[in-house]
Amino acid sequence: MTAAILTEAVAPGVTQITMNRPERKNALDQASYRGLIAAFAAAEADAQTRAIVVTGTGGCFTSGNDIRDFATSALEGARVAMDFLTTISTATKPIVAAVEGFAVGIGTTMLLHCDLAYAGEGSTFRMPFAALGLCPEGASSYLLPLAAGSKRASELLMLAEAFGSEIAREAGLLNGVVAQGAALGTALDKAKALAALPPQSIALTKQLLKRGQAAAIADAIATEARHFDERLRSDEAQAAFAAFLKR
Ligand code: COA
Repeated sequence: MTAAILTEAVAPGVTQITMNRPERKNALDQASYRGLIAAFAAAEADAQTRAIVVTGTGGCFTSGNDIRDFATSALEGARVAMDFLTTISTATKPIVAAVEGFAVGIGTTMLLHCDLAYAGEGSTFRMPFAALGLCPEGASSYLLPLAAGSKRASELLMLAEAFGSEIAREAGLLNGVVAQGAALGTALDKAKALAALPPQSIALTKQLLKRGQAAAIADAIATEARHFDERLRSDEAQAAFAAFLKR
């Protein structure tokens, strides 16, 4: 069986973590979350790694949580997703995201925890939580208003519609939009630049940038997760999952 998460040392000091379930648009099931947690933990522990690039295979970032998992083993899946969000939000090494194609659900919200993020033109983003009978996760109810302003955050989280890379950039989810297919190359260049800088200074800079928000982010992740667990069992959510799986 092919691993759902691939880890590769792609350049001196740079580890690339790739979501790899192309037949499901890289949807994250429990094994994927466990793979991501292990990959980030290994990169954090590896003295050679100075910057981490996260991306998806097959011209797609990720279609978000696996809806089949939501429909069947919902609570266990939600717990491991929360563990992943805690892992990525507390990472000490710089993380650069490379997005092509779709970045849905946690695929969008994890960008709020990456230090840098680049997307290819034509990429599509969506936080469909409200439309699926769920609620925001990944501290997006806290971080998105800060990054995007409250009106834009309400629009993206309440209307729950898909949006393009320019809006994602304006909303503070991205540093830049590059030519389609060029996101990974750009992210690798930025990761190499970070890896070439003094690592203790980079770690301290990241720590200071995050310091003021760390407690609020942890609280938002935990509070959202409690509501999310309840919503997963709701009739509204179960009906939305059944509708997706019956398409
Ligand atoms: N969970 C489980 N399976 C998923 C999935 C997900 N999140 N996203 C895609 N898939 C599956 C599809 O069911 C399909 O399977 P099939 O070939 O057996 O029919 C396959 O992956 C390809 O997806 P498809 O929908 O045909 O691709 P598309 O290019 O037309 O659309 C998306 C891509 C991402 C827009 C669409 O798949 C989608 O909306 N997925 C759900 C996203 C979502 O709501 N995630 C949860 C966030 S909380």
